[in-house]
Amino acid sequence: MIATGLKLQVRALNDIAPSLRHLSLGTLDGTPLPPNGAGAHVLFTLPGQGRIHRNAYSLVNAPGSRGQYDIIVRRVPTSRGGSATVHERLKVGDVIDAQLSANMFPPQRSARQHLMIAGGIGITPFLSYLKDVGVQAGEHALHVCCRESEQAVFAPWLPTDKSKVFFHWNADGHRLDIPALLAEQAACTHLYVCGPSDLNQSVLAAAKALGWPANQVHSELFGGVASGGASFEAVLQKSGQRVQVGEDESLLEALEREGLTPHCLCRGGACGACLTGVIAGEPEHRDHFLSAADKAQGHLIMPCVSRARGPSLVLDL
Ligand code: FES
Repeated sequence: MIATGLKLQVRALNDIAPSLRHLSLGTLDGTPLPPNGAGAHVLFTLPGQGRIHRNAYSLVNAPGSRGQYDIIVRRVPTSRGGSATVHERLKVGDVIDAQLSANMFPPQRSARQHLMIAGGIGITPFLSYLKDVGVQAGEHALHVCCRESEQAVFAPWLPTDKSKVFFHWNADGHRLDIPALLAEQAACTHLYVCGPSDLNQSVLAAAKALGWPANQVHSELFGGVASGGASFEAVLQKSGQRVQVGEDESLLEALEREGLTPHCLCRGGACGACLTGVIAGEPEHRDHFLSAADKAQGHLIMPCVSRARGPSLVLDL
């Protein structure tokens, strides 16, 4: 379900680790929240210093919850954006403009076996998967690659029966052998991976090498795409408008700052919703959506993550 124009009030803030903050959110008057599916995100619009930050966070509460949304936000060390605002400025009682965006990473309802692999805070969508009746009804297992100490951090969010959850960390005897794990799965298994780019690429490469059908492999990148870089000018061909894109904002954010409302969903270069034509200039592609051939042609760009290689880009907007 998609729901826009939500006003979410912070009901509780809780630091569950030095860089991880749990937020409980509800409506101002206690009316029911729109129900979310497992793997869904809530998109925050947060005022920052001189600009607006928009960040999507996976909901970790049970799917369909109407009383409360829960998210866990990792503080990005270099952040001047959404995660810094959540960790440094939000207080209980604050009201956040938000929307429930389209679910880009749902468990496959027809699947009878689910294999989930998470890297660190990439565990968050799977915390709701584990509460999904469809996932619970099938065979399932969650493998989490994290620091050894993080097992305790995530434990309260996991089911009481932890026999289907496996933690791995960087020590002899505890590392995850991805090819071996994938090789022992039943042919009908659906594979889901959510984590940083290196983990996702390792899992996707192993699945491809083992001949997994592409429609049984699902991935979500967690915070792995940097959107900042050298500033440049975007020229909007249809309106003639010129938009300066700053060093620490994305092209999408710069367009939004100017009052434009480009179509977007994931804001991470994965879904394809913000696809925009390039009329002149060379894009610096950072997305995971365009094919290598599309990128080489340079006629398309994903403004949520990609930028210009030179001083300007002329866009088909
Ligand atoms: S919003 Fe999803 S790729 Fe840009």
